[in-house]
Amino acid sequence: MKKTKKHLCALFDLDGVIVDTAKYHYLAWKKIAAEFDYELTEADNEQLKGVSRSDSLNRILEMAGKSLDEDSFNQFLHQKNKDYLIFIQEVKKDNILPGVKHALDFLKENKIKIGLGSASKNAQIILEKLEITSYFETVVDGNSVQNGKPHPEVFLKGSQLLGVDPEYCVVFEDSQAGIHAAQAGGMTAIALGEEKVFSDMDYCFPNFEALDSATLKTLF
Ligand code: BG6
Ligand code: MG
Repeated sequence: MKKTKKHLCALFDLDGVIVDTAKYHYLAWKKIAAEFDYELTEADNEQLKGVSRSDSLNRILEMAGKSLDEDSFNQFLHQKNKDYLIFIQEVKKDNILPGVKHALDFLKENKIKIGLGSASKNAQIILEKLEITSYFETVVDGNSVQNGKPHPEVFLKGSQLLGVDPEYCVVFEDSQAGIHAAQAGGMTAIALGEEKVFSDMDYCFPNFEALDSATLKTLF
């Protein structure tokens, strides 16, 4: 772990960081892609992580070499979300990924501000299902931004609402798009996931269990 300055706020991505809903986005998109006779692979899916619903559909259409008129495009967006909402029906607090609650408690005890920066329009519902809404001083989600990740808007808005300059913000992310968004915003990005996916990152941890109190103390 390289030596770092003390940060004043933590911005969390949601899907794939706090809860393993990334797999449900993948399954729902896989079904849509099959309708375009395209088999969406896990490697394709890495490119979709963190990307807004409509940008994701555009990327899948590009992969499949297909195009749609506006009505059909919107219908597929609706279908994808309908399937996704069925998948997440059973999500509950037991599904919070290991180590996340500990990190949230550590931050709270140390008076570090906590915000959510998610591309998802379903973020609020999921936080409620997980019963962790009260940890977040601000929630910036897919409903509150014009530009999706990798644009930094979602995180810049979060840091502004928390009143902390970007250079003192840490962003926890599992997606390439999200890491790029945090970096473009001038923040410290922490990748959660496999090192082979994030080989160029200063900070990469397999999950929050690897981010114990000693490691968190070096960041905050
Ligand atoms: C991100 C996910 O958090 O939210 C993406 O990583 C997803 O896979 C995006 O496309 C938008 O989510 P939603 O719930 O608004 O369709
Ligand atoms: Mg994510």
